[in-house]
Amino acid sequence: MELKKAVGIEAAKYIEDGMVVGLGTGSTAYYFVEEIGRRVKEEHLNVTGVTTSTRTKEQAESLGIPLKSVDEVERIAITVDGADEISKDFQGIKGGGGALLIEKIVANNSDQVIWIVDQSKMVDELGAFPLPIEVIKYGSQHIFNQLKAKGYNPEFRTNQDGSRYLTDEENYIIDLHMGKITDPLSLGNELIEMVGVVEHGLFLNRVNRVLVGTDEGVKDIK
Ligand code: 5RP
Repeated sequence: MELKKAVGIEAAKYIEDGMVVGLGTGSTAYYFVEEIGRRVKEEHLNVTGVTTSTRTKEQAESLGIPLKSVDEVERIAITVDGADEISKDFQGIKGGGGALLIEKIVANNSDQVIWIVDQSKMVDELGAFPLPIEVIKYGSQHIFNQLKAKGYNPEFRTNQDGSRYLTDEENYIIDLHMGKITDPLSLGNELIEMVGVVEHGLFLNRVNRVLVGTDEGVKDIK
């Protein structure tokens, strides 16, 4: 938790007066949003936030951060978000928190994307973390069956009570337990071509800076 807090606070130093800021989702992005809220309150920082989930929206509203939707802004200056895995060539898996679709839309409309992670997220190769895919409900069993036939070890994401997890957009998530992803680019293309797949959690060539919380402090590794 301390490492996550340290990177969240460090990332907030890149945010300047007047910026439109993308606010990520997850337990690491949480600390970034808290720090932005603190600066808005105590330092009168003037920013507009664009949130990536209902959770982050509620947090930002409670902190008094002025918000707009992505469609109400021309461009986002910097988005700060967490990640589930980052490989040595800075490709990532996101969506562990289920917000991959809006996170990718916000990232795509940002001039700069900063990922904040603790050192446990840095890996040699992607795939140990299950790769989330957001799918519309209708026909999702067939997508599941196709993914199974491909050997991708799919699993519908569920809540604690066993019911199907629903994203903010009321879609399902299928997690792929692949173990290893040797060619993320072609896998991403293959998945997005499946009708009914809304988005996948491979974030490829999308990050400008990676801040890693380590026992020796925060490292800027890209
Ligand atoms: C949510 C995400 C998160 O950024 C990702 O899961 C990392 O979360 P955390 O900082 O809690 O480990 O992609 O959809």
